[in-house]
Amino acid sequence: MDIARNPASIPGNASLADAAPEPTAPDTIRRLDYQPPAWLVPDIALEFDLGIELTKVRATLTVRQNPDAARDQTLHLCGDNLAAMDLLVDGNPAEGWSMSGSNLLLPLPGDAHEVTIETHLHPATNSQLMGLYASNGMLCTQCEAEGFRRIMFFPDRPDVLSRYTVRMKGDRGAFPILLSNGDMTASGEDEDGTHWAEWTDPWPKPSYLFALVAGDLVARRDGFTTMGGRKVDLAVWVRPGDEDRTEHAMRSLINSMKWDEEVFGREYDLDTFNIVAVSDFNMGAMENKGLNIFNTRYILADPDTATDGDFDAVEGVVGHEYFHNWSGNRVTCRDWFQLSLKEGFTVLRDQMFSADMGSEAVKRIEDVRILRAAQFPEDSGPLAHPIRPDSYQEISNFYTATVYNKGAEVIRMMRTMAGPEKFRQGSDLYFQRHDGEAATCEDFVKAMEDGAGLDLSQFRLWYEQAGTPRVNVAMTHDAGSGKVTLEVKQQVPATPGQPVKKPMPIPLKIALFDRGTGTHDGERTLQITKASETFTFGGFAQPPVLSANRGFSAPIQLETEASDADLTFLAASDDDSFARYEALQQLFTRELLGATDSGPNEPRRAAIAEAMGAVIDDTAIDDMMRGELLMLPAINFLIELAAPADPVALHEARERLKAYLGTRLRGRLTALHDRASTVAYSLDAASRGARKVKTQALILLAAADRAETARRAEAQYRAADNMTDRQGALAVMSGLDVPARGELLADFHARYADNALVIDKWFAIQASALRSDVLDAVETLAGHEDFTMKNPNRVRALYMTMAGNPFAFHDASGRGYRMIADLVLKLDPINPQTAARFVPWLGRWRKIEPVRAAMMREQLSRIAAARSLSKDVREQVTKSLD
Ligand code: PHE
Ligand code: ZN
Repeated sequence: MDIARNPASIPGNASLADAAPEPTAPDTIRRLDYQPPAWLVPDIALEFDLGIELTKVRATLTVRQNPDAARDQTLHLCGDNLAAMDLLVDGNPAEGWSMSGSNLLLPLPGDAHEVTIETHLHPATNSQLMGLYASNGMLCTQCEAEGFRRIMFFPDRPDVLSRYTVRMKGDRGAFPILLSNGDMTASGEDEDGTHWAEWTDPWPKPSYLFALVAGDLVARRDGFTTMGGRKVDLAVWVRPGDEDRTEHAMRSLINSMKWDEEVFGREYDLDTFNIVAVSDFNMGAMENKGLNIFNTRYILADPDTATDGDFDAVEGVVGHEYFHNWSGNRVTCRDWFQLSLKEGFTVLRDQMFSADMGSEAVKRIEDVRILRAAQFPEDSGPLAHPIRPDSYQEISNFYTATVYNKGAEVIRMMRTMAGPEKFRQGSDLYFQRHDGEAATCEDFVKAMEDGAGLDLSQFRLWYEQAGTPRVNVAMTHDAGSGKVTLEVKQQVPATPGQPVKKPMPIPLKIALFDRGTGTHDGERTLQITKASETFTFGGFAQPPVLSANRGFSAPIQLETEASDADLTFLAASDDDSFARYEALQQLFTRELLGATDSGPNEPRRAAIAEAMGAVIDDTAIDDMMRGELLMLPAINFLIELAAPADPVALHEARERLKAYLGTRLRGRLTALHDRASTVAYSLDAASRGARKVKTQALILLAAADRAETARRAEAQYRAADNMTDRQGALAVMSGLDVPARGELLADFHARYADNALVIDKWFAIQASALRSDVLDAVETLAGHEDFTMKNPNRVRALYMTMAGNPFAFHDASGRGYRMIADLVLKLDPINPQTAARFVPWLGRWRKIEPVRAAMMREQLSRIAAARSLSKDVREQVTKSLD
C-alpha cells in the first residue's frame, strides 16, 4: 500500500515570531544568563559534630580558578540562613570577606587555595526539611536543589563537582548508625560515649547529591554482584520495628540493578548502596550518591498495610532513584534549567522498568492517566512552562509533572522514532560522552542524533515550547479510487510568555480497521511536521475505522470525527490495548460532557453499557486490564475538556452514569465481584487483578444500590486479609450514608493507630469522600490529635486529597477554596516548598465557570496580600493571578 505525503499550505509557519520575553521580576533567574563558575572545588572535606539541637560543621574546600571561565578573584559562596563561625584561607583568618544578602564573598589572591569554614546548624527547628533536619530523633539531609547552602557556604550549583570526604561524630546512643555517600573508610569509638565514621565518595559530585544520616536505624541487608563482578553490599535502613516491611523495597532494588544492566548497560559503581526511609520528607525520594533517602511511603510495604498500588509505587520509586545513579549522578545537570535531562529520562527509565516487571499495557494506561490528570492542566494553565524552562524564581517550583512526566514522553517519542536498538545506541553514546560531566538537554539531544541516527532539528521544539499540541485528524474516503485521506492539523496553544507557536514534529501511530473483519493491515507511524498536512492510503473498498495515537505515541490532545459507532467498534476490537481503553474513555467523555448540557444520550449510554459488559465478559484480557477499562475518566481531566467547567455538574453527570451502568450491569458486576472474591491473596498479576476489579465493581454498584453495596463492601472490609481490599471497601463505604460507615472508619483507625502511613490513608479516605459533609469532615480532621502541619505526608493526605476532590474543593460556597488558601498561609512559614504545591489548584480558575472562578481568584489575592510570603509561594501566586 502506498503512502503519499502531501504537505498542504503551512499557515502559521511564515509568521513565526520568536517567543516574547517573559516579564522580568527582580529575582528571576534566566537560562540564557548561564555563566560557568569562576572557581572549582575539586575536593571538600566535611566534619560534623552531630546533635539534634546543635550540629557543628567544619568544611575544608580546595578551590582553584576555573581555566574555562572569566577570571574573578572573588569566590562566591552561597549560604542560606548560615553564619560563618570561623573562616580561614590557607590556614589563616580570612581577610576582606563580606556578605551579599545571605551569600559570602571571599576575595582570594591566587589561583588555588584552601578555604576552611565552620557553621552551626539547628536541625530540631528546621521545619522546611531542607538542609540538615531532625525527623523522629534521627538526623538527615535534603540538598536538592539548593539545600546544601543551608549546611555550608559553598558554590551550590550543579556544575561544581567535588570529591567528598565526610567525617562525623556523635553520641553512640542517639546516633548508633552514621551514614554518608560512598563507602565507609574508617570508624572508631571515643571514650566520652561518642563514636565517629568517615565516608569517602570517589565520584566527583555536585553538592545537591551530598547526604548524611545519623540515627537509631536497623537494616535489611542483601547483596548484588554486578555484571563486572563487583560485590555490592545493599542495605535498606528503617526505624526499629519497620524492618519487616522492607522486603519489597529490597527486591525492587535488586531488580532495578539487574534491569539497568540488561536494558541500558549501566552498572553500579560503589561497594555500598544504602537506602534510608524517613517519615518527614517533602518529596518522594532522593538519589544522593550511594545513599538514597526515601519518604517512608515509598519503602515500607507489606500486604496488611500497603495496597497493590503502594507496592507498585515502591517498585517504581526505588527504581527511579537507583536509575539516577547514571541518569543524574554520573551524568548530572549543568544548571537547574536542565532538570528534565535527569528527571524526564529517569521517569522514562522507571516507566520502562515497571512495564517490564508487570504489564506493559496496563502501565502505559496508568502513565497516560497521570499525565492527563496532572500535566495537561499544568500545560494549559498559568504555570505552563517548557520541559526545559527559560526562567524561574524558585527552582523548587519546577519539580513538576511537565519536567518529569512530559519530559519522559518527549524522550519516549525519540525512542519510538529510533526503535529500541538505535535508542540504546543513542543512550550509550550519551553516557559515554558525558560521564563525569554536568550536561545539558542539548547534549542529550545531540547524542541521540549521533548515536541513534535521528535528525532532531525540529524535534528540539519539544524542549522549547510549552502547551499540549491539539491535533485534529479528519478522514475522507473515496469509494471510486478506494483511497483514504487523512487531513491532519495541529495547533499549539499560547502559553505564558509564548504567544506564538511553531508546529511540532509528532510521531502519530495509526491503524485503519476494516469494519467487517475487525482487523487492520498494519500499524503506521505518521511523522507530522507541519501545521496542516494530508496522508493518503489506497486499497480501501469501504471506509475504514481510524485508530489514532495508538500507545499514546505522542503527548497531544487528539480530536477525530469518530462516530459513537466507530468508538464502540474500537472499544471492542482494537488490538492496541491503549487504543481500546482510549475509545472507551472517549465514549465516556462525550457522554459526560454532553450530559451536563442536554442530559444523557440514551443510545450512547446503552452503547457504553454494552461495551462495558463486553469488557467484563472478555476472557482474552486479564483482570488488571479489565480493571483499567472499567474506570471512568477523572473529573479533573474532564474539567480540562469542558473548560469553563461546572465541576459539580460534571460530578453529578458522572455519578448518574455510574448509577446507570451499575444498574444495567448489576448482574455481571455482582458476578465479577463474587468471582474475584474467591481469589486468594498473593502479589501475582491474577490475584492483584482480582482485587482491582473487585473495587471497580463496588464503585459502580454503589452508585446503583447503596444499601446492598454497603453490605457487600462491609463484608469485603471485614473479610479482608490485605490493605487493597480493606482500603477499597472502606473508600466505597466512606462515600455512603450508612450506619456501618462510622464504625468501619473507627475500626480502621484503631487497627492501625501506630502506623503513620496507614493513618495517612485514614485521613485521605475521608477527604476524598463524595459526600455533602466532606468539608466539615476535613475541618474536624484538621483538629484531630493525629493531624500535624509538620509532616508533609499528613498535610497532603488531608489537604491535597481534598483539593483533588472536586466535590469538596469546588463546593459552591467557596469554602473549599478558602480552606486551601488558609492552609497555604499557615503552612508557608513552616514549610514553603510544600505550601507552594497547593497554589496551582487555585490557579486553575480559568477552567472553571465564572462564579467559582471569581472566588478562586479572590483566595489567590488574599494569599498575595499576606505580609510576608516565601519566594516559593510568592512565585506561584503571582503567576496564577496573571
Ligand atoms: N530528585 C528527586 C527525584 O526525582 C526529587 C526531589 C527533588 C527530592 C527535590 C527532593 C527534593 O528523584
Ligand atoms: Zn528523579
